Amino acid sequence: MIFRQSFDPPSSTLTYLLADDLGTAVIIDPVLEQVGHYLGLLDQLGLRLAWALDTHIHADHITGADALRRSTGATTVIAASCGAEGYDRQLVDGEVLAFGGESLRVIATPGHTPGSLCYLWRDRLFTGDTLMINACGRTDFQRGSSVKMYRSITQKLFILPDETLVYPGHDYKGRRVSSIGEEKVLNLRIAGKTEQEFCDIMDNLNLATPQRMHEAVPANLLGGRLD
Ligand SMILES: [Fe+2]
Repeated sequence: MIFRQSFDPPSSTLTYLLADDLGTAVIIDPVLEQVGHYLGLLDQLGLRLAWALDTHIHADHITGADALRRSTGATTVIAASCGAEGYDRQLVDGEVLAFGGESLRVIATPGHTPGSLCYLWRDRLFTGDTLMINACGRTDFQRGSSVKMYRSITQKLFILPDETLVYPGHDYKGRRVSSIGEEKVLNLRIAGKTEQEFCDIMDNLNLATPQRMHEAVPANLLGGRLD
């Protein structure tokens, strides 16, 4: 198996490249400006990209999904509940996506957005902006819901084995991986909190609007197509 984590400094986005032993690959949460880097990695490692996956409609960067489709022929994928027309395939909870001899399981985790989902591969969980390292995605725009976020994390992610590795869609403090066991104990927003306590925290974060939101969201609803 092949596993690579990439980082886009302007948006602090973490992107993941996975491949089976025969060279069939998927990429999770690609950033448009980093597509050249991903293509170089695919070439260097001798991989064929089967799927370009997004965990949700991003507000802070434009997805590289469409650019990867054009360059590699990969199929672009997102949750059906995102309402994004520009993707080739729309997923629902529980679906399994095969790539070569490997597969990913789709776990719908509404909260950050209604269409947010996580991908589970082997012992690794790619959480997008749902569960992050000692954090979670904001719920104050894009039809987010702190109640749904609490239920998604506690009822669908915290039931996974403690050893499950958590790979988030962003980290702003240089961290790169955590685990379900760690987040259940250490995540200051949700560990040991009631639903009401969590919602009170989320409702008072007072975060600024992402700078590129008005450009990124319309482009991402088209899968990152710019023309
Ligand atoms: Fe997001």
